[in-house]
Amino acid sequence: MKTVLVTGGAGYIGSHTACKLIENGHQVVILDNLSTGFKSVVPKDAVFIEGDVGDSDTVTQLIETHGIEDIVHFAAHLLVPESVAQPNRYYKNNVVASQNLINAALAANIKHFIFSSTCAVYGMVKTFPVDENVSMQPISPYGRTKCVTEWSLQDTNTAIQSGYIESDFKYVALRYFNVAGARPDGKLGQVTENTTHLIKVCAEAVLGVRDQVTIFGTDYATADGTCIRDYIHVDDLAQAHLDALDYLQKGGSSDVFNCGYGHGYSVREIIDVMKKVSGVDFKVIEGQRRDGDPPAIAADNSKIKTKLQWSPAHNDIELICRTALDWETKIRN
Ligand code: UFG
Repeated sequence: MKTVLVTGGAGYIGSHTACKLIENGHQVVILDNLSTGFKSVVPKDAVFIEGDVGDSDTVTQLIETHGIEDIVHFAAHLLVPESVAQPNRYYKNNVVASQNLINAALAANIKHFIFSSTCAVYGMVKTFPVDENVSMQPISPYGRTKCVTEWSLQDTNTAIQSGYIESDFKYVALRYFNVAGARPDGKLGQVTENTTHLIKVCAEAVLGVRDQVTIFGTDYATADGTCIRDYIHVDDLAQAHLDALDYLQKGGSSDVFNCGYGHGYSVREIIDVMKKVSGVDFKVIEGQRRDGDPPAIAADNSKIKTKLQWSPAHNDIELICRTALDWETKIRN
């Protein structure tokens, strides 16, 4: 089996994917600067290197030392509201560091590169669900930083196809919708501090870690006035990375895929599900809209199902909320 470099493997989605790669026989090297990740979620069978993806010397050296052939690139800042307040931090980490990594990958003849993109690249979508052909019109700095790196990968691929760059480099960009939940076996989950993600926020409210949940905006043009999102279980998303690697290794060409279930839940619906699975009637208040939030978005997932044979196993919002709550309970005790 080949050795895969997982950047950001001490983070939420990165750790779940690293674990699944190892379970499927891959050797894994994790590069993470622990700025938001945690050493405690790094799988014990992975080689861990503390460092920055933007540090070309470190990356070049570890690719050579560990015989890396494939890269799965998670390391990034990922909070929409934070990106609105601190755009330059996001451009530095998500654009500049990613570009350094891509350059180091090209120089080292890396063949396969999986990039963590996001549905935030779409912005205010007019179609529901949205497919990959809809043009990217992000409305948040976070979405724009991911869009820039997607363009960089696309332009690199075009230059390779046109013969301007001599390389076997191919990439898949996975556009994540709203990732939530934890491994059903209780081994891993989301450890993020000061979370802003709705399902984790609700789990914290169930456990009394926070007093209440605020609904950000109740006057959207949706059935109940609150935003609709396509919540995907983290383990199904981790599997999408293995499927994407397999696709490239078998000769698939560079491409972009949505990762979601194709339907959405409103903020109020998520709160109701979390109250149902927990049996706790936590306090909810109605607040102002949050900057950078599109009203409703869900993935058209026909492309990933057809081309990567992605077959989600946890398309169940109660399971997503229950596993998130079980994990939260575990880490709070
Ligand atoms: N929300 C609330 N109250 C909260 C937290 C969230 O009402 O306390 C609402 C938000 O306003 C939004 C929805 O719940 O309408 C989901 O918000 P999240 O913060 O959970 O997720 P986002 O949609 O903002 O962003 C997440 C990831 C991004 C990713 C995006 C894709 O953080 O990396 O999903 O939609 F790009």
